[in-house]
Amino acid sequence: MRLHVTEHPLIAHKLTTLRDKNTSSPVFRQLTEELVMLLAYEATREVAVHEVEIETPVAPTMGTALAKPRPIVVPILRAGLGMLEGMTRLLPTAEVGFLGMIRDEETLEAATYANRLPDDLSGRQVYVLDPMLATGGTLIMAIEYLLERGAKDVTAICILAAPEGLHKLADAVGHRAEVKIVTAAVDERLNEHGYIVPGLGDAGDRLYGVVD
Ligand code: URA
Repeated sequence: MRLHVTEHPLIAHKLTTLRDKNTSSPVFRQLTEELVMLLAYEATREVAVHEVEIETPVAPTMGTALAKPRPIVVPILRAGLGMLEGMTRLLPTAEVGFLGMIRDEETLEAATYANRLPDDLSGRQVYVLDPMLATGGTLIMAIEYLLERGAKDVTAICILAAPEGLHKLADAVGHRAEVKIVTAAVDERLNEHGYIVPGLGDAGDRLYGVVD
């Protein structure tokens, strides 16, 4: 497993506003989109490409195009959905699949409740979108699921990560070089409710409001 913490003043600036409890949902959504575009730029450094021959108005030349099969973007519902727009802006030709996962707030165990993905992911590059890598349970389940179905490599894009979740992930899939985590920051720790500290609160609630 490889971890990339993206260091950039613009990312740090947007992340600070995102963390602020006074930031409204519309601004939070907009900033998430912008932040994901910046993280996605880093996360797609190894996206598969091939050479193509084109003609400019002046001369023929060789260029670069995304290879096939196309990458798949998989937001983890619900909060990962808030990252989809930013990701597809950068990768408009990517396919989009969905994984619905929820964690039990008492046991903090993750469970799958929805799945809209091809059964066969052989040779596919997959980008998983999950804003908060907290305990790591959800992401471990998602990554194992994708690799079992033949994904060539899996890159998880997370806005924030906790050291506890990163350690758990490293224990579960750390031996696999084809797993990469790209995040804007690794925070201090998890609190007793499994929230990232200082974090930004419940990403789903901040994006979409509280659903009772
Ligand atoms: N999920 C969130 O939305 N926030 C956290 O801090 C941890 C998990």
